[in-house]
Parts: sequence; structure tokens; C-alpha cells
Amino acid sequence: MTPAGIARALETAIEQDLREGRHPFAVTATFGTTNTGAIDPIAEVAEVASRYGVWLHVDGAYGATIAFSGGHRDEASDLEFADSFSWDPHKWLFQTYVSSCLLVRDRRSLLDCFRTQADYLRDAEADPRKPNYWDYGPEMTRPARAVRLWATLQVLGRRELAAAIDHCVALAEVAADRLGALPDWRVVSPPQIGILTFRYAPEGYPAEELDAVNAAVSRTVFESGFAAVLTTRFDGRTVLRLCTSNPNTTREHVLETIERLDAEAREAVSRGWELAP
Ligand SMILES: Cc1ncc(COP(=O)(O)O)c(C=O)c1O
Repeated sequence: MTPAGIARALETAIEQDLREGRHPFAVTATFGTTNTGAIDPIAEVAEVASRYGVWLHVDGAYGATIAFSGGHRDEASDLEFADSFSWDPHKWLFQTYVSSCLLVRDRRSLLDCFRTQADYLRDAEADPRKPNYWDYGPEMTRPARAVRLWATLQVLGRRELAAAIDHCVALAEVAADRLGALPDWRVVSPPQIGILTFRYAPEGYPAEELDAVNAAVSRTVFESGFAAVLTTRFDGRTVLRLCTSNPNTTREHVLETIERLDAEAREAVSRGWELAP
């Protein structure tokens, strides 16, 4: 669907809700889906949302990290249209679990939701220059979760982080290029912010058989301990999914992974030859 088509579909759904007496109040777009890394047209969705006074939340749990990249950071610019977006540095900014953030355009919206005015907090609230973090979220007592993230930003710095993210993005492109050069492999969804799906699909085999072959290939390479290229479903079929989010992965690792997948796939198909049409 085109961005304009998605905006139209959203508008139609909102109009239908209104006609049927419902009150749509929020829409969620995704900036980097888990399955394929696909990005919704945030600007177009935001235009519809603001026209209807609907809150726009964007799930940027994985994808918003692209804002730290050197060559791709502009791709994140439409996040500015969101009323709020979620971002998980534990996904692609190299944090241990859990490092999860909610960013809002206007901090007052958090105060409206979470502000606590308990008598026993009055003395602690005495200095208006200091934010009371219990007013910005559901927790009162909380650990200093942000310190790890702050330390990463301080130690690595912008340039190092940008290079790491750009490297991850490039690795998925290396994989797609290599697969494109191999017979019988099909790139199912193009590399998008470090996520690629693909499938071993030689001509003339039933789709169900190829589902089984792709699943078996994933399992064998995973069990070898070399790479975790797990499966997912796309358009009802089993496909392989590569998420190159580790900057310690090299081009050679990726090429070797593809080579192993290819060898396993050929082997699996030749073992199941009698199942072929
Ligand atoms: C796009 C996206 N949003 C949300 C989540 C949920 O993440 P978590 O449970 O780590 O917060 C995931 C997990 O893969 C994801 O990829």
C-alpha cells in the first residue's frame, strides 16, 4: 500500500468508528516492525491523526535507534510528528535488559497521567526547579536505569555509535546482495534498518515443502552454534529472518552464514528429492 493509501485507510476507519458512535482517541504506527523492519508513513498518519484530534503513538522500540546513525539518521526525522514514541535501547543500542523509554512531545502529558499529590510527598516536592520523577511515570521508588544508557553514550560518543549503527545497516545489505547473486534464493523483504527476510525457493517445489526446508536449514545452522537465523512467517510462508544488530558481526560472518545456509538448503532439498513434483 502507498503512504497515501495507508492514510486513506486510516481516515476511512476513523470515519467509520465515528459513524458507529465510537470515539477513536489514539493511533499507533510502527517505525521498524519486528518481522521485516518496515516503517509506516509517519508523516501521512500524523496528518490524519492531528486532523481528527487523535493521539499518535509510534512504536520505535527497535527502529528509533536509527536516529543515532551517521548515514541514515534522516530516516528518523518523521518521528518528530509523533505525540509519543517508545524506544528500547536494549534492542539496538547495546544495553542489557531492561532499557526501555517512552518519549513524549509535551512532558505535561505525563504529568496529566501520573502526577501524584500525596501529603507525605509535599516536603520532598519543595524545590520547583527539580523534576519529581514519580510525577512522570507509574513508579515512585525506582532504580537508576538510565545510568547504563548514559554511560554508553558518554563512553562511545556520537561518532562511534553512528559508525556501529551504520555498520549494522550495511551488513543486512551485504546479505541481500549475496543472496541476490545465488540461484534459488529469494529476498522476500528488502533490508530495512538491519532486518532482512529471505527464502530458499528453487522453482518447481511445493510451497509447503519449501517451508519445511527453510525451517530445517534455520534449525541446523542455529544448532551448529554459528549463527541464529531464525524463521518467521511472511504472506503465509516460512521465511528466514536476519537481524544484523550486533556491531561485532563482520561482513565475513554474514557471508559465511549465507554460505552455510545455502549448503544446508541444497542438502535438505536433495534429501527430500522424492517429495518434489
Ligand atoms: C517493534 C517492537 N516493538 C515492541 C517490542 C516489544 O519489546 P520489549 O518487550 O522488549 O519491550 C518488540 C520486540 O521485539 C519490537 O520489535
